[in-house]
Amino acid sequence: MNNILEVRGLSVGIRDGKKTYGVVDSIDFEVRRGEILGIVGESGCGKTVTVLSILGLTGEGVNPTGGQVFFEGRDLLAMREEEKQKILGDEISIIYQEPMSSLNPLLKIGRQVGEPLRIHTKKTDEEIRAQVLRLLADVDLKNPEKVYDSYPHELSGGMRQRVMLAMAGISAPKILVCDEPTTALDVTTQAEVLELIRKWNRQFGTSVIFISHDLAVINKLCDRVIVMYAGKIAECGKTETIIGRPGHPYTQGLIASIPTMRQKGQPLSCIPGRVPSVTDRKDPCPFAPRCGICTEECRQQVPPHIMMPEEGHEVYCHHALRGADPVPGGEQGA
Ligand SMILES: Nc1ncnc2c1ncn2[C@@H]1O[C@H](COP(=O)(O)OP(=O)(O)OP(=O)(O)O)[C@@H](O)[C@H]1O
Ligand SMILES: [Mg+2]
Repeated sequence: MNNILEVRGLSVGIRDGKKTYGVVDSIDFEVRRGEILGIVGESGCGKTVTVLSILGLTGEGVNPTGGQVFFEGRDLLAMREEEKQKILGDEISIIYQEPMSSLNPLLKIGRQVGEPLRIHTKKTDEEIRAQVLRLLADVDLKNPEKVYDSYPHELSGGMRQRVMLAMAGISAPKILVCDEPTTALDVTTQAEVLELIRKWNRQFGTSVIFISHDLAVINKLCDRVIVMYAGKIAECGKTETIIGRPGHPYTQGLIASIPTMRQKGQPLSCIPGRVPSVTDRKDPCPFAPRCGICTEECRQQVPPHIMMPEEGHEVYCHHALRGADPVPGGEQGA
């Protein structure tokens, strides 16, 4: 099977007193074996809620209200808790934007990284130490012995993020979920951590879900991209298609707001307005209030699911083709 994860009609609700608001609305996507899949969208679009719901890690009051999430054919949402915990421990790992929140400040790094081996295997202390040191070297930490004996606060942000990668990798997971892992880092360190994620992906064939609000970062790293807006998928496709020939006006707006990506001569623009809060999503197309090419039907009817000429390029928009310069005469191209 080519897909390691299949998300089908996933909806997520947030409970507020007696009311439940939809925060993720019937989304479909898949993660292929060995690929790096990006999820991009402005703050508040539902990227984090989507992946945390898939993993069953959402907080109080945030719950899936429909859909299925198949990991290697088994529905994570319908699974018994113990079974799911086992998959989460061994086969799917997640790293977050702020590593400090996931590290125990009172434990030395070597101890924390080696903990799963101590609990789940019969390896001796010496074997565990050797394996942890190898992992720390694998994530390009310069002086693994020193890092091994350090406390989290003694390391820089970039070093801590490398430690998180080492921890995520200790069980050799099949999927690595990265939620804005480089947002808090300076540009150079950011590039190094991205390189490391790519190395990891190539070396072990790990599938990666990489979340970012920054399309420029996604462009550097990902094979395919999902563009999310207000809890729905706006568009998905190969990265080069999404960046080069976006079909959704929201994606076009995201691209036009990145200085290095806009077409020569085009003014730098940003999308007017902001992502509606979960209590304020009324139009069938949530982007309608901010959209430059919105028409009456966008406010009346749910956007159609359009298969674009390029393979795997899908757009949810009444005006997708107009926005993307359709192939003349409706031909599908060579
Ligand atoms: N526990 C919660 N209680 C109430 N609202 C929540 C909760 N978690 C998320 N939300 C709301 O759900 C929406 C989506 O949030 P989410 O964190 O998934 O966005 P995001 O795309 O990850 O944004 P960012 O780029 O800022 O991380 C937001 O409007 C947010 O305010
Ligand atoms: Mg988030």
